[in-house]
Amino acid sequence: MIINTQLENKGNLFPGKVLSFYQDVDKIYFKTENGVILQITIIRGSVIRFRYATDNNFENDFSYAISNEGARGYSKLEVGDYENHYKIKTKKIVIEISKSDLRTSIFDISGKVICNDDWGFHWEQSYEYGGNIVKMSKSAPQGECYYGLGDKATHLNLKGKRFENWATDQYAFGKDQDPLYKSVPFYIGMYEERAYGIFFDNTFKTFFDFCNERRNVTSFWAHGGEMNYYFFYGPDMQDVITRYTDLTGKPELPPLWALGYHQCKWSYYPESKVREITQKFRELQIPCDAIYLDIDYMDGFRCFTWNKDYFPDPKKMVSELEEDGFKTVVIIDPGIKVDDDYWVYKEALDKDYFCKRADGPYMRGKVWPGECYFPDFTNPEVRKWWSGLFKEIIDDIGVKGVWNDMNEPAVMEVPSKTFPNDVRHNYDGNFCSHRKAHNIYGTQMARATYEGVKKYAYPKRPFIITRSAYSGAQRYTSSWTGDNVASWEHLWIANIQAQRMSMSGMSFTGSDIGGFAEHPTGELYTRWIQLGVFHPFCRTHSSGDHGNQEPWTFGEEVIEVTKKYVELRYQLLPYLYTMFWEYAEYGIPMLKPLVLFDQYDLQTHYRTDEFIFGNQILVCPVQESNSKGRRMYIPRGNWYNYWTKEYITGGMERWVDADIDIIPMFIKEGALIPKYPVQQYVGEKEIKVLKLEAYFKLGAKEVSKVYEDAQDGYDYMKGRYSLRTFTVTGKEKEVIIQQHKDGTFITEYDTIEFEFIGLPFTIKEVEVDNVIVDLRSVQSSENDTILGIPKDFKEIHVIG
Ligand code: GLC
Repeated sequence: MIINTQLENKGNLFPGKVLSFYQDVDKIYFKTENGVILQITIIRGSVIRFRYATDNNFENDFSYAISNEGARGYSKLEVGDYENHYKIKTKKIVIEISKSDLRTSIFDISGKVICNDDWGFHWEQSYEYGGNIVKMSKSAPQGECYYGLGDKATHLNLKGKRFENWATDQYAFGKDQDPLYKSVPFYIGMYEERAYGIFFDNTFKTFFDFCNERRNVTSFWAHGGEMNYYFFYGPDMQDVITRYTDLTGKPELPPLWALGYHQCKWSYYPESKVREITQKFRELQIPCDAIYLDIDYMDGFRCFTWNKDYFPDPKKMVSELEEDGFKTVVIIDPGIKVDDDYWVYKEALDKDYFCKRADGPYMRGKVWPGECYFPDFTNPEVRKWWSGLFKEIIDDIGVKGVWNDMNEPAVMEVPSKTFPNDVRHNYDGNFCSHRKAHNIYGTQMARATYEGVKKYAYPKRPFIITRSAYSGAQRYTSSWTGDNVASWEHLWIANIQAQRMSMSGMSFTGSDIGGFAEHPTGELYTRWIQLGVFHPFCRTHSSGDHGNQEPWTFGEEVIEVTKKYVELRYQLLPYLYTMFWEYAEYGIPMLKPLVLFDQYDLQTHYRTDEFIFGNQILVCPVQESNSKGRRMYIPRGNWYNYWTKEYITGGMERWVDADIDIIPMFIKEGALIPKYPVQQYVGEKEIKVLKLEAYFKLGAKEVSKVYEDAQDGYDYMKGRYSLRTFTVTGKEKEVIIQQHKDGTFITEYDTIEFEFIGLPFTIKEVEVDNVIVDLRSVQSSENDTILGIPKDFKEIHVIG
């Protein structure tokens, strides 16, 4: 072994000289004199996998994170053999591998450095567990910024910090507390406006250090497994994220109701309480689509059972709630109560589906029902069995969604809060200890749940929500950020976490609105709901320990403001659904932190509060008590204040008025923002018109899209969707809107109603598909900037 003398006392080992290389289609192998092999796989021109073996041995190549469609091979590459290095060239990048120590450097095609190894791959042997502690270090040029990493509750830019990924039940976590519930070992680096990404696909406990230990070095390492990472080149940050999401998978479209407002508490019971809550929503006309049953609906917290004292006839209740537009979502935890009279327990025991300790006893731990055993969700047979358990809940009772909690997995009353390391797992035939399976356990539970709900909900779409997740979980489930606190600081955290999750491939995320632990003031709740309606997942939840958290518990003013914002969310459903479609189809993050929206503007690199909802709406929450407004950065370009319609130019910080009923919100000029009428729940009303708010822009074209389909079911996959692409051109005395339509779905409405905002002229003439129309027949009687146009036009000219 070659040991770097400087680090000898740390026990680090390094690759020696490269002896040979060979190419096998899209894979290139470099072997060193001391038994290290670097395998480089060219997945796409800008997506490269680096994988290192020691002792000349690779592990069995298996990953839960990589989607089947994601790992396509790429064969167009050149490998050059030079005096001191090898050179691999794709269409997008050049990789150099040093012959003396296997260190790699990645350049863009013009020769600019994107990412250089510092020490590169090194490792320590682990005598206790076998295998290695695998490490990687990269040089970090001054000015490089870092983003991503899942749910970390810290500044959006990760520079200067160190993180650990070990899924943890972190009740009432604090700012900067780490680790939290999720493990998403993917980050984005950006230097001189060029972005790249690194996904360290290793489910052991992993660490990331962004210039914390050494000022000019970024490193990541794991307590076992292989040094196995994917490199993505942008240079656009959005391309880095879409490439990562391509590899780890995209979700299907959720049913549209899942994008409505959800109400939850620990716990609504008995049945009369559930009905009282749902009725109150309808009475106050605050839109709501989903009501949640937390653990008390079960019989003694036994999953897949009902407490018949509280819920004597769940099927009747669920179907009556549904008639009123409420979908019921129930919680299911992984811990199965040790109880000889409980069929789920007995079945799993019979079939040998529970996790066991190294020497054979069952993994026993306390959760809500008391002593529990835990299914090994990393066993495909267990997942299949688990899926089958949903038949009654979904198929018979009619529940529409399932909420998976405590799946880090959480164990009570033990210092580690989870399983001991020696617990054994199947890991889809790659038998291992909990050290390797811990971070993936929650995702495999959510996957088994998703498969079950999907099967029994068919032909409708499933809805799943999880607390723990590893990269790739987005294929199966939405998520929430866990047990937060009703504090202003947590409102800040919720904003960061939702943006960060979006950048980490998991857009369908939200926080417990108002805070889970403790009780918000009416003002805090108001500010939180204003933000929450702009998160892809929108649910109020609380522990219920300190009072109620339904919108009406804070008095009249809060009811009014909540109503205004939840109504706005329902109006924006076609906009939100189109965002989701872009995420599901192309992996485009639904929320865009300013740095992702405009990485070429240096001002955005350290911003945290402002974000873009979709592509065209800028939002910035008010995060302090007693505010009449706030300062915020308006990104470059021109914007309309949504509330006042004032036209402003970005690229600078401004004060924005925001009394208690206002969240600062701006629309990008040129945008067409689609809206539906307010509904109390998705599907309540027939949509008779699609409204498009047209924000005038002089000059260059702006493209807006509206995606629609049957709002549930799978017909959309057979082409039964409607995708309208509008191109708007604004001139001094004319606006031209061209429409291109895709898909065979026929929308209910016949008319698109344009409302022009910021139009610099009075409308004198309207031409639809080359025919001048009678102005009075299209103009609204109340407002002459509103025009009703037959929906399938190809081109309209609005002339002044
Ligand atoms: C956990 C969850 C919380 C839930 C509670 C009871 O704390 O994070 O959302 O309400 O368990 O099930």
